Amino acid sequence: MSKGILVVGSINLDMVVISPRIPGPGENVHAHGFRMVAGGKGANQAVACHRLGTATSLLASTGDDYFGDFLSGKLEEYGVSASLVSRKPGSATGVALIVVEEDTGTNTIVVDPGANMAMTVADLDPLDGCYDVACAALFQLEIPLEVVREGARRARGRGLVTLLDAGPPRQVNASLIEHFDVVSPNEKELEALTGKVIDGVESAAAAARDITRAGATVVVKMGGSGAVLVDGGEAWHFPPYQVKAVDTTGAGDAFTAGLAVALAEGAHPGDAVDFANAAGAAAVTVVGAQPSMPDRATVEGLRHAQAPSRRRI
Ligand code: RIB
Repeated sequence: MSKGILVVGSINLDMVVISPRIPGPGENVHAHGFRMVAGGKGANQAVACHRLGTATSLLASTGDDYFGDFLSGKLEEYGVSASLVSRKPGSATGVALIVVEEDTGTNTIVVDPGANMAMTVADLDPLDGCYDVACAALFQLEIPLEVVREGARRARGRGLVTLLDAGPPRQVNASLIEHFDVVSPNEKELEALTGKVIDGVESAAAAARDITRAGATVVVKMGGSGAVLVDGGEAWHFPPYQVKAVDTTGAGDAFTAGLAVALAEGAHPGDAVDFANAAGAAAVTVVGAQPSMPDRATVEGLRHAQAPSRRRI
């Protein structure tokens, strides 16, 4: 059996309303439905890696409260052990308030991170017994940056490939990026990382090249515009898979998980991005974050049916 993936990151309770439109400041809109859904970028990515067929462990923190119980239960239901999810007394479980626009599936998200931001470097210690059975470690930016930096340093020191999903948008310095083999931002996250304006595939590739100078391969998630890979001196554009979007929440998480799974299996970077692109597309066809993480058959079915051609840029 091949080695697994370690995910270090956030776990949130998503409070989701489906709305006829995204309200502007001061506006009051009647929603068409409400759901409480398991979310958080770290937990979403762990669930997605598992669904895509890779043994996965999640290191995360909740509060010692009802929402924490709910989320640990959901994780186990989705097949990911909650044994490395610690409880932070005095902190509340992270919560995300999400408005999904009914016709387009686009969203706005406000997160109160709670226990996620109470994680410390000492919380990484339980991973000491996990490095030998993993080949990749996956991080995001929804927990303290010193935990991300030290976690990646330790994982790489134990021979794992390190991947950073650079969400949500945060300014981070080179001393963090240098610990990663693969960095995957969306357009807004790429703007936060580089200070450059991204207005299409060409500008995304140009900004991504800045990050590759730190030694990382960069994969930019561009939603309806597909994805861009900058690897060594080469840049490629991957057109989007065509699907009917009902909720884009968690699509980036499915994408990054797909990338991690494919790379962990030894795929060529270009094929890994294609697999990730299909995983992200599949996720937008289902409402909610963790409920929308696709399984392997769905992703391979989409790839087989559409096979969009990548092009060098
Ligand atoms: O990436 C989507 C996730 O971002 C949601 O599940 C929400 O919890 C926020 O963390």
